[in-house]
Amino acid sequence: MDNRKWRAAVVTLSDKGYAGEREDKSGPLVCEMLSEAGYDVEKSILLPDEQKEIEKNLCKLCDEDRVDIVFTTGGTGFSPRDCTPEATLAVATKNAPGIAEAMRLASLKITPRAMLSRGASVIRNRTLIINLPGSPKAVRENLEAVLPSLQHGLEILTGQSGECGNRPDKA
Ligand code: MTE
Repeated sequence: MDNRKWRAAVVTLSDKGYAGEREDKSGPLVCEMLSEAGYDVEKSILLPDEQKEIEKNLCKLCDEDRVDIVFTTGGTGFSPRDCTPEATLAVATKNAPGIAEAMRLASLKITPRAMLSRGASVIRNRTLIINLPGSPKAVRENLEAVLPSLQHGLEILTGQSGECGNRPDKA
């Protein structure tokens, strides 16, 4: 395990934020929490809830910018315009559902409304993409639930660690 800083991008999905009708507090909060956790946040963008636009930007972040991890915030609920999970699943090369499951599991202990987030977690080639809900409160609670466990997954995904050294059968 080295001290490499993971390269991250943050994407906020909000029609109102994009139109300048609402201040985006969630994107900056994700950036702040990631920086505190030692990530290098290279890009932070704000997009409307347009599936094709989201897909295009996710692909660019993964394929051209080649960041290690992308966090999205917003657009995971039941509103007709919410399409972040659909865009995320459309660009996935592999599913990684455990992260979204862990976020919902932790969040359900805080609010039953956690079941209303449809957020996904997937892999696109060598990049992990994780959907967070849209409110700052939900961002904080969801990130706190999974951030401590992502390092190992990123090491495996990016080829920096070949195996799970702490597997009991490898002891
Ligand atoms: N998860 C946590 N931890 N805390 C919350 O307050 N809010 C929920 C859910 N997940 C919430 C949460 C609510 S009310 C909704 S509608 C969904 O996230 C979807 O949010 P989004 O549409 O902003 O993405």
